[in-house]
Amino acid sequence: MSEIRLLSVDNLKDGMHLAKNVYRNDGNVLLAKGVCLHRGYIEKLKDFGIASVYIVDDSVGRVEIDELVTEQTRNEATRIVRETMQNIKNARTPEGEKVIRIVDSITEELIHNPNIIVNLVEIRAMNDYTFAHCLGVGILAMVTGIGLGYDYKRLKELGIGALLHDVGKALIPDEILYKPGQLSQAEYEAIKSHTKLGYEIIRDCKQFSMSSAYVAWQHHEKYDGGGYPCGLKGEAIHEYARITALADVYDALTTSRSYREQIMPHEAIEYLRDAEGIAFDPNIAEVFLEKIAPFPVGSLVLLNNGEKAVVVRINPEFPGRPVVAAVIDSSGSRLETPVERDLKKDLTLFITKVLDD
Ligand SMILES: [Fe+2]
Repeated sequence: MSEIRLLSVDNLKDGMHLAKNVYRNDGNVLLAKGVCLHRGYIEKLKDFGIASVYIVDDSVGRVEIDELVTEQTRNEATRIVRETMQNIKNARTPEGEKVIRIVDSITEELIHNPNIIVNLVEIRAMNDYTFAHCLGVGILAMVTGIGLGYDYKRLKELGIGALLHDVGKALIPDEILYKPGQLSQAEYEAIKSHTKLGYEIIRDCKQFSMSSAYVAWQHHEKYDGGGYPCGLKGEAIHEYARITALADVYDALTTSRSYREQIMPHEAIEYLRDAEGIAFDPNIAEVFLEKIAPFPVGSLVLLNNGEKAVVVRINPEFPGRPVVAAVIDSSGSRLETPVERDLKKDLTLFITKVLDD
């Protein structure tokens, strides 16, 4: 428990203190928890593509943070994905046992978490985007698998596939992968080939199941048949790949490489809803969306009664109706002590808007 607020980088001010570490994608700390922000640091956050951070805010009261996977496991997993891709680049076989072991740890941590709701915005530095994205997709896919009632074996197959879904990119030249601006047709085809290449890499690794390999092959297929590489439709796309497609897009939207493009969970949720039945399997999308808190803890929101409040706790059964602490009343005056309102109990109240400062 701590006193935190989620604040957009544009609204940071000198003298504010960071409430959580901000990591680079190699697992090293970019800016440490407790650091006092100044102009240089704020610019650095922008340079690294970070859109919002958690800051200390004593006026809010206690905010409950529940990490789905421990920091140690996340860092280890990011490292293993990086190593795996490096090995593939250097024409070495990936070390399957290491991947299996880390997916085991993630599975253990997820299934022992009673309130499995994605309730934090992940703050991630983008200079080295791919590896942390793979982990983000892996965790989101497994959370969805749990929502679908998967057993341990299927969770692990899904987790391995989702974690390694983009592994084929290791074989695409960096000049193409990171080319700014328009791609030629040939370059676009080369990028699309990461699906087939990834499939072959996972298939050839004896420790992995074929179902995991299908994730790499089919994660860019779309439910209506408009995807690649095969234009598969509906249930013809492997279920693990249909899950991973959702996780991939959600993670990319909420942790974009440019801080100007990153959007908040409630906006990403709207985007996914609009694409249900077109890009995504509507049934899986519903299960996925039940696991995402549209208003992450620490968000400042406007209630329909005119109060401004900070989200302090997620109700796992109703992720869209959290417990909030009103900090400013409807006339615009700051409340001396925050007033807690449980939107699960008070059904006349709802969130009308996410505010930024
Ligand atoms: Fe991909």
